[in-house]
Amino acid sequence: MPRVLSCIQPTGSVHLGNHLGALINWVAGQHEGNVFHGIVDLHALTVLDRPNVIGEQTIELAAMLFAVGLDPDVATVFVQSHIHEHSELSWLMECTVSFGELSRMTQYKDKAAKREGDFVSAGLFTYPALMAADILLYDADEVPVGDDQRQHVEITRDIAQRFNNRFGDTFVVPRAVHPKAGARVMDLQDPTSKMSKSAVSDAGLVYMLDDNATIERKFKRAVTDSDGEVRYDRELKPGVSNLLDILSACTGTPTEQLASRYTQYGPLKKDTGDAVIAVVEPIRTRYHGLMADKGELARLLRIGNDRAREVAAATLARAHRNIGLLPRV
Ligand code: TYM
Repeated sequence: MPRVLSCIQPTGSVHLGNHLGALINWVAGQHEGNVFHGIVDLHALTVLDRPNVIGEQTIELAAMLFAVGLDPDVATVFVQSHIHEHSELSWLMECTVSFGELSRMTQYKDKAAKREGDFVSAGLFTYPALMAADILLYDADEVPVGDDQRQHVEITRDIAQRFNNRFGDTFVVPRAVHPKAGARVMDLQDPTSKMSKSAVSDAGLVYMLDDNATIERKFKRAVTDSDGEVRYDRELKPGVSNLLDILSACTGTPTEQLASRYTQYGPLKKDTGDAVIAVVEPIRTRYHGLMADKGELARLLRIGNDRAREVAAATLARAHRNIGLLPRV
């Protein structure tokens, strides 16, 4: 069984891009691998500037992960800050990656540009080192992520290889796994940008906790184009292709097959909204049920944290040993 690891940040509500690009695949993969899924609250600190919000967001995200179908008996769901090995290995990663490599990360460039004139933390820059630590601590073979994280998994591979060359075989070199449909869910109002919590407006973002009427409205108003032809072409028809991708990810039907069923945008928008509601509605119900029992959620996280901790501690000890740090007596 492959060892699988992937993580998500507790920055606000989970959206359809997270779900179709990542969570659906986490759930599908939980019986085919030994899976670890982290709620990476330390990553969220790169842009956090208010007290007393991150803890609540962490528990909400935990409820969402169990609501989408992660089974605590098979999937190890943990909280990054509860496992101090992440911060400790992160430093070793920072010393293994170069300033130049970090400077080339497109996510950093985009995020820093968006915060123009605002505070850009050093953590935003060194973020891929922490992400490499997340992955390498668990000896992950596979990392299922959306397309936007591709470059971060690539740099993790480079870091692992460099560390292994310097200090001897220490880390498993992981590979990214991307979903066939849903790898890049775009904003419904701006289909050339990915659906993201950092969008200027919520109109093009579908949240897992949006009610049915809101979801219907967002799809009805989705930006398409003026030529009126339903065809899959990401370059020339980004809006229509995004709808086809979403419908495909929700129904399992290939995009080309779906495209041939429609001659107008209206029915495509309606069916895509309905398909999303069919996926999201039962998840929303389970989510509210779970949030009503915070004690149980805390118990489930404790189980995940204990399992994760065991693996993480062994890997960090191996890294220390291979570097040759003086053992603590
Ligand atoms: P995050 O929290 O932004 O997103 C979580 C997952 O959702 C995917 N995703 C998308 N997929 C398709 N279309 C979209 N519009 C879309 N938006 C988000 C992301 O690709 C991701 O799989 N750096 C990571 C978190 C992280 C991580 C890790 C991931 C930290 N350590 C270790 C994997 C392994 C991030 O910010 O994801």
